[in-house]
This record gives sequence, structure tokens and C-alpha cells, in this order.
Amino acid sequence: MPTPTTDMAYFNGGFTPLAEANINIKTHAFLYGTSIFEGIRGYYRAETNDMVLFRANCHYKRMLANAKIFYLQPALSLDDLCAITTELITRNQPQTDTYIRPTLYKTGVNITPRMDTTDTAFCLWTHPLGNYLDTTKGLNVCVSNWRRVDDNAIPPRTKAGGAYMNTALMVTDSRQMGFDDAIALNHDGTVSEGSAMNLFLIRDNTLITPGNTDNILEGITRDSIMALAANELGLATQQRTVDRTELYMADEAFFCGTGAQVAPIGHIDNRPVGDGTPGPIAKQLQALYFKAVHGHLPQYQHWCTVVPYTASS
Ligand SMILES: Cc1ncc(COP(=O)(O)O)c(C=O)c1O
Repeated sequence: MPTPTTDMAYFNGGFTPLAEANINIKTHAFLYGTSIFEGIRGYYRAETNDMVLFRANCHYKRMLANAKIFYLQPALSLDDLCAITTELITRNQPQTDTYIRPTLYKTGVNITPRMDTTDTAFCLWTHPLGNYLDTTKGLNVCVSNWRRVDDNAIPPRTKAGGAYMNTALMVTDSRQMGFDDAIALNHDGTVSEGSAMNLFLIRDNTLITPGNTDNILEGITRDSIMALAANELGLATQQRTVDRTELYMADEAFFCGTGAQVAPIGHIDNRPVGDGTPGPIAKQLQALYFKAVHGHLPQYQHWCTVVPYTASS
């Protein structure tokens, strides 16, 4: 869906038409990938004409924690970032599910790839986004032959702009080979996550996901899934190192992330996961997740920021 031309963005410390929010081609972040970003979802509710922002403050907390690693020094506080986001949604009033993309980036035009002496800027825009991956059929995925970047190379627990070259290689090559997406292994051959989403397996009714020190993004959806599984299904999650062959022996598997939401996996490297269709636990967690993100589970309202639209929208 094309972005409406009337869309506003936050850029250079103020709200401006998206079409005019442009950077210099010598910008440090453009040259070296020196940025960190977040992806936040807004779910439009036609029945109440408002938008639910899902765990926006958690995304900004992660962004501010990531920022320290890369000498990104935002002039904005957590509250400022949340307020700017709410205001942008209020201004744009998108009447569809929306992806909200904040970026902190090195805005200087100096050539040296040094981060501590380069200014930091913040920008924010919105884009219509339905399903990033199919959430219904059981995805057909491969194990990527590209390895995940390492904590001591470009830390994958950050959403560092430059690190998404690694993701892009996995997505591009898996799709060229006819798969829906890819699973990334670490250099030691253990499992990290999907190309741009976290991964859960179910073996013998146990929920398993690679641990925080397995070169994963410490995903907010992953955290939400673990809470929903524990509180609503009585299922604890094992966070631990996962071997490649566990992928092939799993009863169920699914990806999760802000973009991916909860996307069951049907086949891995041409081997069926379970019977090759979405499994019962994945389906239950998916249903709970979709209720939670729309603000329909009272016990998880604290995850939701409701942005009401004006009557004229
Ligand atoms: C590499 C990677 N892993 C995992 C995730 C999932 O994280 P979250 O649930 O916080 O969106 C993302 C982003 O969506 C990602 O880019």
C-alpha cells in the first residue's frame, strides 16, 4: 500500500511532511550504518476509531539502552519519545494497521567512522503494514547459510542499522531459493533466531527459545509470548541454547516479532514440523497475542497505549 502523501514525520526536532524529511548524502549513518532503530506496531480499531500502540515504551527503553553502546546521545527522554510517537499518530490518524519506525542516527557529515565525535539525531515515520509474514499457513523456511553476526562484531541484541545487511542477506537468499524466510545459526552452529524475528520451538509440550546470550535480539514480542504462555496456558519457557537438529525434531515451531507477529512454521529445510501445519500451542499463543495487541485482554492493558482519533478523522 503506498504511503499517503499527506503523511507527517518527525525530523530535525519537529513535525514535517514526510516527503520533505530528507538527509544529506554524506550523512554518517548513511555511509556507515551508524544508527539504531525500532519497529513499533499500531493496531487500528475501526470500532472505536483509535490506534493501539503495543509496548511502545518498551521499544524506546530498548532503543535508549542500545544507544549507549554506539555513542548515540539523544536529546530526548523516554517520555519525550513516547509523546512524540503519540502526537505523530494523532497527526497522521492512519486508518489501518501501522508500522512506526523511530531511528536514532549519527547525523554528522564527517568521513571518519568514529561515533563519539558525531552528532545524534532522531527521526520517526509511519507506514501502513498488514502481515509481514503469512500467519496462517505454516511457513516454509530454511536454515540460512549466512551466520548471525556476533555480540563481539555487531551486537545482535541491538537493532543496529548496519547489522541488517546480515538480515538482508538471509531474507534475500532464502526468498530467491523459494523459501518464505530463514533461520540464522551462530558461528558455533547453534540456533539464534529468524532473519528479523525470534524463534520458539515446542518439544513434548515444552516451549523452548534460544537464550539472551545466543546472539538474539531480546524481543519484546518474545517477552510477551513468554508471559502469555506462562500466565494464560501455564507453560513455562526454557530459554537455552538450541541445536540445529532440534529444529527438525520439533513438534511445533513459530517465529515472533513486531513485524512477524506470531507466524507458525510448517517446514524447515524441507522437513515437516509436526504434520506441516500450524500446531495447537502456536495457534493458541497467536490467538492470545492478537487479542492482547488489540487491547482486548484486560490483564494486558498496561502493554497498550490507546491513541484516540478526533471525530473529523
Ligand atoms: C533480528 C530481530 N530479531 C527479533 C526481532 C523481534 O523483536 P521484537 O519482538 O522486539 O520486535 C526483530 C524485530 O522485530 C529483529 O529485527
